This record gives sequence, C-alpha cells and structure tokens, in this order.
Amino acid sequence: MTLEAGSEFEKLIEYLRDARGFDFTGYKRGTLMRRVSQRCTELGLDSFSAYHDYLQVHSQEFAVLFDKILINVTEFFRDRETWDYVAEKVVPRIAAKKGEIRIWSAGTSSGEEAFSAAILFCQVLGEAAFIDRLKIYATDVDEQALSKARSGYSVKEIASLDDDLKERYFEQQGERFVFRTALRRPLIFGRHDLTQDAPISRLDLLICRNTLIYLMAETQARILARFHYALNDDGFMFLGRAETVLTHAGLFTPVDLKLRVFTKVPRVQLRERMELLAQAGSAEAGNHVARQQRVRELATEGTPNPQIVVDAQGVLISVNQRARVLFDVPQSDVGSVLKDLELSYKPVDLRTPIDRVSRERQPITRQGVEVKDADGTPVVFDMHVVPLIDEDGSLVGTSLTFLDVSSRSSKRRTRSFSRRSRSWRRQMKSFSRLTRSWKPSTRSSSPRTPSCRASTPT
Ligand SMILES: C[S@@+](CC[C@H](N)C(=O)[O-])C[C@H]1O[C@@H](n2cnc3c(N)ncnc32)[C@H](O)[C@@H]1O
Repeated sequence: MTLEAGSEFEKLIEYLRDARGFDFTGYKRGTLMRRVSQRCTELGLDSFSAYHDYLQVHSQEFAVLFDKILINVTEFFRDRETWDYVAEKVVPRIAAKKGEIRIWSAGTSSGEEAFSAAILFCQVLGEAAFIDRLKIYATDVDEQALSKARSGYSVKEIASLDDDLKERYFEQQGERFVFRTALRRPLIFGRHDLTQDAPISRLDLLICRNTLIYLMAETQARILARFHYALNDDGFMFLGRAETVLTHAGLFTPVDLKLRVFTKVPRVQLRERMELLAQAGSAEAGNHVARQQRVRELATEGTPNPQIVVDAQGVLISVNQRARVLFDVPQSDVGSVLKDLELSYKPVDLRTPIDRVSRERQPITRQGVEVKDADGTPVVFDMHVVPLIDEDGSLVGTSLTFLDVSSRSSKRRTRSFSRRSRSWRRQMKSFSRLTRSWKPSTRSSSPRTPSCRASTPT
C-alpha cells in the first residue's frame, strides 16, 4: 500500500486542478488524503497513482471524488447559541443603517446558512424592506450542493427548524420545502471558489463557517485578506466555532471571540489597503505596491549616508549603495542573516548595538566610528541605530545610519591642536619668564611638542 503523503499524491492533486479546474493544492493534506484514501479503498485500489490512472479512464469518478472531498454537512441555525448572538447583537446594528444591506454566505453548502440569515433579517426588517433592501449572496464551490439549495429540503432536512419559522418562511412543493417564492428575490446562489475567485464586495455581513478549516494556513491568510477588503469598514464577519483569525489578528477585531464574530479593523491606510489587495491576488494592486516599494528602495539607495536595515529576525533587508561600497558588501548578501555575515563585526561591531536597541527599543548613537573608505582614506562616522517600531508597538527591525563627521572631527582636531598650542605658548611664556631669572646650568631642556593625535570619541 502506498496511500501516504508524497509525490504520487501531489501529482494526483495537480491532475485534478489541471484536468478539472478543482484546485485542492491549498487544502490541508491530512483530511484530503483521508478522503481520497477512503475512495481508493472502496475501489480496491492500493496506490494514489493507480487512482490517478482510474480517474483518467472514468470521467464520472470526478463527481464522486469531489462529493467525498467537499464535506457538505450543514443545518439551519447551526450552533444555535452563535446565531442567537448574531440575532441579538449584529442583525439590529446592520438593519439600523440606511440603504442596501449586503450579505455573503461563502461555503454555504446546500444553503441552510443563507436561509437562516434571511430569516433573521426578515424578522427585523419586515417583508417589504427585506425584499427591497437585502442582497444575500450564497456561494459554494460545489454545484451539486447549490442545486439542492435551489430545489428545497426534505421533511427530515427541515426538521430542525421551529414550526412557526417553517410555516412563515417555507412552502411545500411536492415532497420538498422551498423558501417562499415571494421572499426569494434577495437570495442569489452561485458557484464561487474561495481559493481562486474575486470576493463579493461592500459587505455588511460575511458568513464563512466551517469552510476555512479545511484549508492550509497560507490559503486561509490569503482568503482572510480578501475578506478584509470585501467588508465595509463597519461590516461583520462570522466564522465557524473551530476557526481562528489569529494569523490576521491585525485585520479583524473580535466582537465575541468564543462565538467567532468579528468586525473589520477600519480605516486602513491606502498603502496597507494596496498591500492587502496585492496579497489577495490583485495584479493591479500588486503592480502599485511593487512600484511604491521600488520608489522607497531608490530613495534610500541614493542617499549619501550609508544605511543598513535588518528586520526583527536579524535578516539583512537593505544595504544602500554608499554602505555597499564602504563596507564592501555585495547586494546578494541582502536576505541573509546579518550575524552570518562579516559585515556584522567588520569593520564595526553591529551586533551589539542592534541587540541593545532591539532589547531596549531606544535609539542609540555611537560617535566617532572610524572606517577606511574604498581608497583607504579614514572616515569618521556617528552611527545612529534606531529601532523600527510599528503602529501596534511591535519591533519590525533596526536601521543603522552612518553620518560622516570627519570634517567635524578634523575641526575638533584643529581646535584641540590650537588649544594645546595656545597652552604650549602660555607654558613657553612662563618658561621664558622663569628662564630670564634663571642661571644656566650644564643640562639643557626643551619643551615637549604638543601631540596632534585626535582622540577617538566613543
Ligand atoms: C462543512 S460545509 C459548511 C457549510 C456551512 N457553511 C455550515 O457551516 O454549516 C463546507 C463547505 O465548504 C465548501 N467549500 C470547500 N472548499 C471551498 C472553496 N474553495 N470555495 C468555496 N466553498 C468551498 C464545501 O463545498 C462545503 O459545502
């Protein structure tokens, strides 16, 4: 049996993407493999490559496999306590605003979630305003589940709904119960792949429950960045009980962490917004961000003062042109851990001041750092080491800027020389006064010439 993680399984996943456009590459491997393995066992196949061959011959197998992988379990008002909270705290706030209300139930499966939201809003707004003002987009990657949402529910499937809600909002058509035709207009069902498609935007409420949980952290992060963009500044996001937005805590604030109800962190600056969009896959925003980053890079690159920047992990982020020449650092060193590079200790110790600044989060200056320029000329710098602290108080890096103070040092040297020669002249005067009353002896004496060696300030 070779039903284990590895290249055979990855090839199979790539085949599903290339042959059928179903991209499972961003799904957690554990669940995915368990589901495919189950199907292999049902067919008596003992390897993923055998199943790959099987799929190539039996095209109807795709539907069976997708049905296995896409777990459609759902129900009306799933996790009742959470929906009660949303009914009490979130729906009235959204209903109180003026104009259109936009809701997205993403990964809606067979639609029970979208109809639950519809019922809550209809209760608060009344039928006329519900039809007039509401748009509920209910999407899923699974067409089969969506067609069930459109065609209605069996007695068993609708059994969990209170009788009065059943009567008020559903009508019987043959064996099935469908949402009342008169109230259907605000609900729009459609296929949407969260991992690939652009989000629905300008949302007041985004419901995405028990769907992100199947995806890998990076894929979740990308989708959450899109969700952030999709929500209005005062919009709400409602996730499943087992889902977390910890990796994107900066984008959303919990209204109730346990119940997984969040609001968007509003007023993101244009730059951050563009970066989010770029992260969410927008090519235009990507270009915009890349352009802005390039302008920032060039601004530092061209300054006459050598500058070095490391991130909070000690990785060399940038060395401008003047610093590259002065410290003889190739551009290719950018991206390496500074401590692994000669630059970290030669010609100047950079490790100690960086460690100190990271620890104390206070800028420091080392004065009179002497470095030999490319042609061997000694240059004296003041080294300014500054912690780079983000708005949320986190340390994101350290910047080291070297200000050339050679002229100041030479003036200081000149001043020091003049001071000493003045003092020497004074000494000479008093010496000559003394000598005028002095009787020559056999031993001669000469005053010491003052030194012009500059002291190196620290
Ligand atoms: C467990 S159901 C959750 C249904 C409902 N949200 C709930 O909490 O009761 C997960 C749904 O996510 C859908 N899904 C999985 N991957 C998806 C994707 N990439 N884009 C959109 N929906 C996806 C599945 O088809 C399935 O219907």
